[in-house]
Amino acid sequence: MNVLVVGSGGREHAIVWKLKQSPQVTKIYCAPGNAGIAADAECVAIMAEDIYGLAQFAQTNNVALTVVGSEAPLVKGIVDLFEERGLVIFGPSRAAAQVEGSKKFLKQFLQRHNIPTAAYATFHKDDHAAAVRYVQEHPAPYVIKTDGLAAGKGVAICATREEALTALKEYFQDNVFGDAGSTIVIEEFMEGEEASVFAMCDGTDYAVLSPAQDHKRIGDGDTGKNTGGMGAYAPAPVVTPAILERVEREIIRPTLAGMKAEGHPYKGCLYVGLMMTAAGPKVVEYNCRLGDPETQVVMPLIASDLYELFHACAAGTVGSYQLRLHPSAAVCVVIASQGYPDAYEKGRPISGLDAASRDAAVFHAGTAVKDGKPVTAGGRVLGVTAVGEGLGATIERAYAAVRRIGFDGMYYRKDIGSKAKQ
Ligand code: AMP
Ligand code: GLY
Repeated sequence: MNVLVVGSGGREHAIVWKLKQSPQVTKIYCAPGNAGIAADAECVAIMAEDIYGLAQFAQTNNVALTVVGSEAPLVKGIVDLFEERGLVIFGPSRAAAQVEGSKKFLKQFLQRHNIPTAAYATFHKDDHAAAVRYVQEHPAPYVIKTDGLAAGKGVAICATREEALTALKEYFQDNVFGDAGSTIVIEEFMEGEEASVFAMCDGTDYAVLSPAQDHKRIGDGDTGKNTGGMGAYAPAPVVTPAILERVEREIIRPTLAGMKAEGHPYKGCLYVGLMMTAAGPKVVEYNCRLGDPETQVVMPLIASDLYELFHACAAGTVGSYQLRLHPSAAVCVVIASQGYPDAYEKGRPISGLDAASRDAAVFHAGTAVKDGKPVTAGGRVLGVTAVGEGLGATIERAYAAVRRIGFDGMYYRKDIGSKAKQ
């Protein structure tokens, strides 16, 4: 079978890497891919958001299954387009992708179905005065989110009323997020540990992958700026079997039933971003795709054939599918360029990739090839994943592999997974 993976980051590299292990997969294309993915798949120069170009490619290249990594093409309607043309694709329809594409849609949906989440109110920029009143009538801290996609930057955690009022001005008057911020959600601040649970859905049924935990801040001890994710590990012990059972009963099953009842059944990966509050697990956010870098730890823990899992989701047969998971631990340390998430240098030669690959999977996120040698080409450059027995030993193994890699301005967190070890 020919498979097409859409995207160009570490997540897509991990998907390609796992698909390559399937005896059913004969050829993997990745659009647009990156320098590391090119070792495992044929990279095709079509951008992830060029959904018509991708559909045409899938038709002319006899692609049996397309897997979409990132949210933008999903929110744009790539699944609707492919299905209209009779192509098999893993991911939610445009209407279902609103769980990520519109925070207002998500909050109203969760409320309608009594799914636990933070209390909230929504405002349009025409109601700036009402939003100000809301802030004045409610105590700090506040969480203010743009309704639309803002490249992961549309969330402001405001410790004081003044910060919240400044954020409102930025969103509504200065238009810092353009249209994405013309409607906002103001949420109650939830306290607790975060975790990500991925439900692989077919519209009715689902299979859950190993619960994972991301490390979003740039600095050790969860300090400094938010990033796309500096590392992850799975399974996350904070999601005990009892909590996972609650997440399925109180969150995942009512979501699938609600989406179906409202006319847009959810197919694809439902990324359930959770906060473990004193009152139990609550939804922080949904994403309409797998997480990055969580995918780099959940893929190696899948014992089943990944092609079959994706296909079962696309074909509506997950209910009779037996997903098998490895009982091991997986740890991914992201290696970034100094300066990330702000400005950073590109084009730095990278050494030690082969040595690191002996004991770990090295997933490429932002690399390129210059004069036949690998160089840095992004803020997040690599994700180094080790798999082993026990989290402590697996953390050691991941860092041993990371230390074999070198480039000027290489930066990584030293504490990935350590929270769970204590
Ligand atoms: P989101 O894009 O909705 O995932 O938000 C980004 C990050 O902001 C989350 O991963 C949390 O760390 C934090 N966050 C979002 N909403 C809340 C909330 N209601 N309470 C506390 N933290 C939140
Ligand atoms: N790891 C966070 C995300 O994928 O959104």
